[in-house]
Amino acid sequence: MPTAPWPARSGSLVLRDPRPDEIDELLALRNDPAVNRWMLKTHAEPEAFRREWLAVPDSATDFSCVADLDGRAVGLGFLDVVDGMGQPGMPVGTQAGIGYVLAPDVWGRGLATDLARGLLTAAFDVLGLRRVTAGCYADNHASARVLEKAGMRREQHGVQDSWHAELGWVDGCEYALLAHEWAARRDVGTA
Ligand SMILES: CC(C)(COP(=O)(O)OP(=O)(O)OC[C@H]1O[C@@H](n2cnc3c(N)ncnc32)[C@H](O)[C@@H]1OP(=O)(O)O)[C@@H](O)C(=O)NCCC(=O)NCCS
Repeated sequence: MPTAPWPARSGSLVLRDPRPDEIDELLALRNDPAVNRWMLKTHAEPEAFRREWLAVPDSATDFSCVADLDGRAVGLGFLDVVDGMGQPGMPVGTQAGIGYVLAPDVWGRGLATDLARGLLTAAFDVLGLRRVTAGCYADNHASARVLEKAGMRREQHGVQDSWHAELGWVDGCEYALLAHEWAARRDVGTA
């Protein structure tokens, strides 16, 4: 079992494991229509959400977290360890996908950027992963900007590769960062 990355401070936030008594509050945040408009999954099914978030503290691959601002759960960070792709002999569990949602009343204060940086710190500095990826709809400009501010590279712009419930087929973007790029950014103080 890898070292647990939480709790950890990142900017104004404390990133921590979810508590059983706040799952309903977290579900309400995840299912806020303003929050999920640009999410691939536009509705979290309550029982599955409860099961997944209660299992997080003991999971060997799901290192998702609550973003806590002065004692209030204002966001969710997603960090799932996955395999890359490759031929037999490939090391497994060397990369992760990250994501985030913040409560609308705290948008525009740099908190998602703090959260994304905290997820990258956990992935590279604590879990020792090799590569981290994140995706967003191309028109989710705030999210693309967060990933760029956190230091990730845009690797792909997929033309009409993503389905949006209101808009139909739209463009999607894929961002990534490698461990040595993260270390170089950290060493010059830009991570
Ligand atoms: C996307 C989201 C996480 C951003 O959270 P946030 O805390 O407001 O993000 P930050 O304040 O750290 O940074 C936002 C950046 O986007 C910019 N931005 C916001 N809206 C923008 C827009 N419409 N066009 C261009 N840039 C925009 C901000 O100016 C800021 O950049 P700056 O610091 O260079 O000025 C938040 O809006 C959210 O939770 N949205 C719903 C869920 C979601 O979309 N999650 C991501 C799925 S991929």
